[in-house]
Amino acid sequence: MPLVSMRQLLDEAAKGGYGVGAFNVNDMEQIQAIMMAAKETKSPVIVQASRGARQFAEDLYLFRLIEAAAELNPEIPIAMHQDHGNSFETCKSAIELGFTSVMMDGSLKSDGKTPSTFEENVEVTRKVVDFAHERGVTVEGEIGVLGGVEDGHGAGGSGLDHITDPDQAVEFAERTGVDALAIAIGTSHGAYKFTKKPDGSVLKMDILIAIHKRLPKTHLVMHGSSSVPKDLQDIVNKYGGKLKETWGVPVEEIQLGIRNGVRKINVDTDNRLAITGAIRKVLWETPEKFDPRDYLKPAREAMKAVVALRMTQFGQAGHAGDYKPVSIEEIAKGYKDGSLSTRPLVASK
Ligand code: G3H
Ligand code: 13P
Ligand code: ZN
Repeated sequence: MPLVSMRQLLDEAAKGGYGVGAFNVNDMEQIQAIMMAAKETKSPVIVQASRGARQFAEDLYLFRLIEAAAELNPEIPIAMHQDHGNSFETCKSAIELGFTSVMMDGSLKSDGKTPSTFEENVEVTRKVVDFAHERGVTVEGEIGVLGGVEDGHGAGGSGLDHITDPDQAVEFAERTGVDALAIAIGTSHGAYKFTKKPDGSVLKMDILIAIHKRLPKTHLVMHGSSSVPKDLQDIVNKYGGKLKETWGVPVEEIQLGIRNGVRKINVDTDNRLAITGAIRKVLWETPEKFDPRDYLKPAREAMKAVVALRMTQFGQAGHAGDYKPVSIEEIAKGYKDGSLSTRPLVASK
């Protein structure tokens, strides 16, 4: 199957009332792990690459690997997404490479660290929407700022520092026309999200629900959605790792989100933990080994198990064969004639 528009994939998820995991990739083994899980659970899937991933893998290697994944798994709808694009240029280069979806994270300035103003965010996101939609490519925006820092990206601080204001979310959706909207509800990137199991004082599901009521056509995105399970932390620590005690986003909270308009759920950290735990275990138990395949194969298996579990928990499992891909050119026509508009004034009519 050719790569599909993320918009089509999320529209289908909305119809079916399920969420779709968006898993970060940097290398072949991670792409294979996702495809193995998608095949096993018959799931449509979003594969995403950060700027750091594109630099690490080099654009062409990365994109050819995704093309291989699509060719080898013709029954699986795959959307290829730019995670946390920091500028118009980053998004444009992803689109030119063949990505079917981009995130313009205008919540931060292009340094990827400093929170931007609302007007700056609207301006850069709208510019990306105009460019992307003309080419049938999906756009995710972000309003509010997540906590934490990953690979130099992020404002740092707590997830509670810049929670999304629902009024601003509505104005942002109206003025930009984004297909999907990432909101800040207290989560952060990385392993250290919460110091105990989160409740409503630190994880603001009520804000998410309020935003969905006002933006029923805009697909909501939960970033920083790794659950950081204790068993994965324990494996890392058992074999020489030094993770401090921490909590992630409980799967039942994500499922509550899915019942309230969340269609895309970003997961990276859980896979990082699974991979690192598996590699540590092999090297710890059999220090005489030095063939990378001896630890990369268990690492790939460990990531596959996490991804397959999340696909089942998010509800995307079993939905790979529900629909035929609509070409990117057809999607572009839908944006042009207004039938794919998500703007709240249009949506509420
Ligand atoms: O947004 C964060 C993702 O986990 C990607 O992280 O920028 O270190 O590749 P990265
Ligand atoms: P985690 O760090 O919780 O996996 O979040 C990943 C993410 O939001 C990528 O954009
Ligand atoms: Zn993110």
